[in-house]
Amino acid sequence: MKKTTVSKVNSRNPDSEKIRVAADIIKNGGLVAFPTETVYGLGADALNPKAVLNLFKAKKRPLDNPPIIHIEDNEDVYSLVRKIPPEAEKLIECFWPGPLTLIFKRSKIVPDVTVASLDTIAIRMPRHNVALALIRESGKPIAAPSANLAGKPSPTTAKHVLVDLNGKIDVVLDAGQCDIGVESTVLDLTIDPPQILRPGGTPYEVLKKTLAEVQLHPAAVADKEIAVEKTRSPGLKHKHYAPNADLVIVEGKMSGVIEKINELTKSHMQKGFKVGILATDCTVDCYQAGIVRSLGNRRRLETAAKNLFRLLREFDSNGIDVIIAEALPKEGLGLAVMNRVRKASDYNIIKVNDH
Ligand code: TXA
Ligand code: MG
Repeated sequence: MKKTTVSKVNSRNPDSEKIRVAADIIKNGGLVAFPTETVYGLGADALNPKAVLNLFKAKKRPLDNPPIIHIEDNEDVYSLVRKIPPEAEKLIECFWPGPLTLIFKRSKIVPDVTVASLDTIAIRMPRHNVALALIRESGKPIAAPSANLAGKPSPTTAKHVLVDLNGKIDVVLDAGQCDIGVESTVLDLTIDPPQILRPGGTPYEVLKKTLAEVQLHPAAVADKEIAVEKTRSPGLKHKHYAPNADLVIVEGKMSGVIEKINELTKSHMQKGFKVGILATDCTVDCYQAGIVRSLGNRRRLETAAKNLFRLLREFDSNGIDVIIAEALPKEGLGLAVMNRVRKASDYNIIKVNDH
């Protein structure tokens, strides 16, 4: 076990000495957790196979699920990829830095372990001064999956990172809570038309306005487990975002959903289970029992995105056995939120009708 240092940094204007210390750790093959606008990432030098292997080990991440490579200068794309499709330039101009990860054909300089031996690579430029300063100072592309243990909800604070990885990483740069709260959108540009493999911080509707054509991978929007071609979308087949508690989603018209959740809560509590309810501002008062938490206003889905992983982790630390979640609209950031909640539930979805 190593000692994990917590280094508090200002999110807008990070202390250059603290960034230098963290960048030296990256340069020497160590592991640094850092904030991005989406979630905290766990970074290692993407071009150092040993460092990347340690990254997989610390997270207990399966070796066939590659991380995203973070850069701070558009030019860095050219050395990491073989071919830049025409639509990439437009996307980079419009959305970087920001929560959009692009999949390209990779170049030879990228070690096999970094891309799980695929012939493609996932790249993004984060919109966070701490992340950008760290990448710039280290002078390396940084491989960074979310800084949680594999399968757990992503961390949106440095405290979440420590719960999962204390003693396994060198340092965490603590710049407070992440802005967006769900991970970046992953867009595959190696096929035509481009396809969203993971809905995230850049909504589908926004990408549709920029690209002539864009598709959603069926598994990204599915309400049940579907077979996935492994080599194209490695992340889609792994267990994800799951709290310790069992999670069930109730979907349908609001009054039916409320009635069903009250009924489920009662029956679980009668069996001696501790129940948590993931509600919204307009429904929190409709539940008579259980620990009720609001994701925020149903119409402000960016608030739900920001709160989701924090609340799942909070339920875990309260020893909740069963979480019952209201479904949210799948528009804007709601699509990313529902994708995470559905996966966390292992597609345990109850559909109700109003009567
Ligand atoms: O917002 C984010 O994207 C955060 C922050 C830290 O940047 N990172 C993140 O990384 O969520 P991670 O490793 O937890 O998720 C990366 C996703 C996985 O679903 C992985 O399978 C997919 O990107 N991915 C990586 N390389 C890929 C590739 N070559 N082809 C298809 N999918 C890929
Ligand atoms: Mg992750």
